[in-house]
Amino acid sequence: MELKQQIDLERLPKHIAVIMDGNGRWAKEHGKQRIFGHQSGVNSVREVTEACAELGVKYLTLYAFSTENWNRPAMEVAGLMTLFAKTIMDEVKTFQKNNIRLNAIGDLKSLPKSNYDLLMKAMEDTKSNDRLILTLALSYSGRWDIANAMKNIAFAVQNNEIKPEDISQDTVNAYLSTAKMPDPELLIRTSGEERISNFLLWQLAYSEFYFMPKYWPDFKKDDLYEAIINYQHRERRFGKTSEQIVNKKEDE
Ligand code: FPP
Repeated sequence: MELKQQIDLERLPKHIAVIMDGNGRWAKEHGKQRIFGHQSGVNSVREVTEACAELGVKYLTLYAFSTENWNRPAMEVAGLMTLFAKTIMDEVKTFQKNNIRLNAIGDLKSLPKSNYDLLMKAMEDTKSNDRLILTLALSYSGRWDIANAMKNIAFAVQNNEIKPEDISQDTVNAYLSTAKMPDPELLIRTSGEERISNFLLWQLAYSEFYFMPKYWPDFKKDDLYEAIINYQHRERRFGKTSEQIVNKKEDE
């Protein structure tokens, strides 16, 4: 049976997050410059986006550029910014055709102004699409997100909008850049590295992690299907016992 058919569509993760890793190593293996790996990675972005939309996954969040990535050689950073701009410009029509909403999280103001403006325009143009919300994490890190939320909660306290004693986990959720999204049930990381690398630190508290050895440019739809099938075979306990979970399923 084809992999896609093995997926239980009733139990799809609503939100999948991906750490797209290994572009540089992929390029090296092919005897090319690193930027060639990033360019090839765009094809995998298309594969995973299309596959999520076709299956009915509602949220896909891709770690495209971390706060720490600013420390890479200037030429690579510039190449990546050009690639982001080009990809966004090229893909907006496809997003419209396929009812995909583009979203972005991170310290977006730190992006070159032309990238920022382009991103805002693409987000505005696709804002009423609702088949899939594709979020690019750009100049993003989990610690940045949490610190930014803390800062804005402090301002809200200062302005008497919130009382410190009323601050709860829901308050923190509401001030994170992912406020309107459910937490990812599944995190995929390519390239064999098994780290979270300052991605969605708060939001991944109960996510299932799926690490795979392939480099990102080699990622295809079947790899997504395999990750989802693997996820569907796991028991998510959220701190409860296995018996509690099994009994709950029997009651349903
Ligand atoms: C990590 O691989 C990848 C990145 C830092 C960039 C990811 C960007 C893309 C795939 C382009 C996608 C474009 C859009 C618009 C989303 P790495 O460079 O760390 O690889 P390495 O660990 O092998 O060096």
